[in-house]
Amino acid sequence: MSRPAKSIHGQWTSRWAFILAATGSAVGLGNIWKFPYITGENGGGAFVLVYLACIAAIGVPAMMAEIMLGRRGRQNPIYTMRTLAKEEKASPYWKYLGWSGVVAGVLILSYYSVIAGQAMAYVFRSFSGVFEGVTPDGAQSIYATLANDPERLITWHTLFMIVTMGVVAQGVKNGLERSLKFLMPALVVILLMLVAYATNTGTYFTQSLHFLFNPDFSKLTGQAILSAMGHAFFTLSLGMGAIMIYGSYLPDKTSIAKATLTISAADTMIALLAGMAIFPLVFANDLATNAGPGLIFQTLPIAFGHMAGGAFFGGLFFVLLVFAAWSSSISLIEPAVTWLVENKKISRIRACVVMGVGTWFLGLLTVFSFNFGKTWTIFGKTMFDLLDYLTANIMLPLGGLFIAIFAGWIMKQSSSEQELAIKSPIFYHTWRILIRYITPAAIIIVFLEVIGLLA
Ligand code: TRP
Repeated sequence: MSRPAKSIHGQWTSRWAFILAATGSAVGLGNIWKFPYITGENGGGAFVLVYLACIAAIGVPAMMAEIMLGRRGRQNPIYTMRTLAKEEKASPYWKYLGWSGVVAGVLILSYYSVIAGQAMAYVFRSFSGVFEGVTPDGAQSIYATLANDPERLITWHTLFMIVTMGVVAQGVKNGLERSLKFLMPALVVILLMLVAYATNTGTYFTQSLHFLFNPDFSKLTGQAILSAMGHAFFTLSLGMGAIMIYGSYLPDKTSIAKATLTISAADTMIALLAGMAIFPLVFANDLATNAGPGLIFQTLPIAFGHMAGGAFFGGLFFVLLVFAAWSSSISLIEPAVTWLVENKKISRIRACVVMGVGTWFLGLLTVFSFNFGKTWTIFGKTMFDLLDYLTANIMLPLGGLFIAIFAGWIMKQSSSEQELAIKSPIFYHTWRILIRYITPAAIIIVFLEVIGLLA
């Protein structure tokens, strides 16, 4: 069986380069900023349990499928889907799956960059000692001052977009590998430090473990299940072609299954560590678990403000968070940029300018939804909440659903068997059952439940 020809596209230098880049994409604001605040909003344990189940039953098989499609197609997601559909003699409309991914990536990056900008602002606040001895009220008002100042938010958002597009312009593979090799481990070390610090809070630490891991199913609404599922896609960077395009640079010999397990385990561990660092602070300082998107910015400064060397470690933490956000942002915009380059035949730099400026403008909606645009709501959601809901809870799971259908039903068994090249037949068949039945059924059931058809 012949495989589609290699394209103009390059390749990663090694399996580790791919794992690093994909982990860099997966680990980001989703783990450290979003996971704790949506866990808080959705009542803790039961939400976490559903999230973990979604990672295992939906995320892992879907990630394998997405990497597999990318490696087989070896182009931007739109072209990849078109090529693979042709190869499997399926409808050319499959290319729209690539399209929805390009759009979702731009929408997500527009608000992602604003939050990353807030993290940048916190680098300077922390190093300059603003947090020293800070009270919970103080931490809240420091955050409020930033969030209520559109000019500052725009400045940081602009800076973050420039840094992101600067790297994308040079081609994703250069530079990323080298920097991630030490940034990721450093982030884990500092998170461990924060968790160790949190254990000092004694009973509050136990209380937060209880909150995170003791499911109270009465708190589990349909919307909470949808958020948990949506977050499984978001945190693993699935459903929009980001991992597909990283897979398109993957050398043939690499085991997709092993890479997937490594990436999802690392990603999940980092999210849980973030939760264990943050919730003890929430309980010890009598803060609201449902503080929303400001949660980490209102809690972590309290820890840094009271530990030895806190100004330094706090600054370092936010630096690492910005880097984690940056390596994720690159993968959000990469499909759109590569598509422009491969389709419109314009230079990479030009493509970056076009996409960067467009995304920047869209980001203003999020900037304003933190201050004077708070009251601009649709369905009771601010512009930021709406963008987040539309992408994470709807577009990504839908993209994932179609990816699963394509990989499980449209692609011949011989094609996926060859591409995944899993040695153990049991593992391959487990994957195939998951991707054909479990993953799509789970996504559809959650959607139906939320629309109210299963009530
Ligand atoms: N996974 C990243 C995070 O958790 C965000 C991200 C990067 C993403 N690329 C993506 C989310 C593609 C969805 C799709 O912060």
